[in-house]
Amino acid sequence: MKTNRSKVASAKFFAKLGYSTCWEDPDVLKSALAVTDRDTVLSITSGGDLSIGLLLDNPIHVVSIDLNAVQNFLLELKLACFKGLEYQEMLSFLGVHPSNDRLHLYEKLELHLTPSARTYWSQHRVLIENGVLSQGKQDHYFFHFGKLLRILSGSKKVEALLNHKEIFSQRHFYDHFWNSRRWQWIFDIFFSRMIMSWYMDSAHFSLVKDLRFGPLIRKQVDHVLRNLPIWENYFVHWVMTKSYPGGNCIPPYLQENNFDTIRSRVDRITIVNEEIETFFDRHDCGTFSKFNLSNIFDWVDDNSFIALLQAISKKARPNARLCYYNLLHHRVIPDTLTAFKRKYNFAMKLLQQNRAMGYTNFELYEVNPDSMRRTGLEDK
Ligand SMILES: C[S@@+](CC[C@H](N)C(=O)[O-])C[C@H]1O[C@@H](n2cnc3c(N)ncnc32)[C@H](O)[C@@H]1O
Repeated sequence: MKTNRSKVASAKFFAKLGYSTCWEDPDVLKSALAVTDRDTVLSITSGGDLSIGLLLDNPIHVVSIDLNAVQNFLLELKLACFKGLEYQEMLSFLGVHPSNDRLHLYEKLELHLTPSARTYWSQHRVLIENGVLSQGKQDHYFFHFGKLLRILSGSKKVEALLNHKEIFSQRHFYDHFWNSRRWQWIFDIFFSRMIMSWYMDSAHFSLVKDLRFGPLIRKQVDHVLRNLPIWENYFVHWVMTKSYPGGNCIPPYLQENNFDTIRSRVDRITIVNEEIETFFDRHDCGTFSKFNLSNIFDWVDDNSFIALLQAISKKARPNARLCYYNLLHHRVIPDTLTAFKRKYNFAMKLLQQNRAMGYTNFELYEVNPDSMRRTGLEDK
């Protein structure tokens, strides 16, 4: 079968640090994939948070893949923190806590990096000095939005939104004091096709036709801000304050009680610099039982989508699970691919629980490779 290469691989966005944190909820991933000590997981790297967080479920192995080498350099750096630093040092180094000592701490990490990651970070020391966790382009986009809200609404109002400790008062505040026409107008402009394409990359949205981005994304954001506790939602705090308040309001891989467990398992992650399209062409491992595919299908055309699914069905263990998000371009596996059993109701329930605002779709499937072979849809 002819390999369909990724259409976004050559986009400028993917030559730099796009995501310094993962904008996907690890709790959703945990429930969707239900990883156990019998699993080998293929996980998109992105900011690295979810690939690292998967270690908490004790998998045999995690293969973390990304076509953007810089995302993988970031994952290496985060993994090196577990090997070379103590917990509080890690928070300071990454930028959760203020620090003037990051370049010094970096010296303890260098020996844990591959030569290419070392070269990259030595040429991008400023990202380290500034706290690498906040240096991704998407993260900057969110911070600009948070800053704009503080300027237009005032910091007191933003703090009030963040600090309700009871869902009824949060919702009341949101409905009566936050969800104004002005909020809707600002949101819809900031998250319009024009501004997002200009700031992020137009390649991200080339498959999305004739939709008004703002109102669709806002609907999901409304849901999160009305119905899910903001006081423990680290995604909302990240946008509004450029930091995490701590305690449990911080990604699981950065929680203190998970530090030693992750430290003892970091060597279970293998990092792969490659498009997933070519990875499946070359690898005959057939061992994957769980697939965390982020929202990569937002950016692949129909042919590549089908080709990837065919490859997955051949590489997957029976009853493997795969999950992915869509921002705006909904991707549903066609019924003709009978190897994939859709878990629609469960996926919709998880989407409602997703604290990382914005995604309009989440899909979860279970794989039965035997039925795939019977359809005759494999290599033509
Ligand atoms: C799909 S993006 C989305 C990030 C996510 N929404 C977030 O905010 O955390 C995640 C990563 O997928 C990588 N990626 C996209 N398409 C890919 C492909 N075909 N193969 C491998 N990696 C891919 C990108 O380089 C990026 O780092």
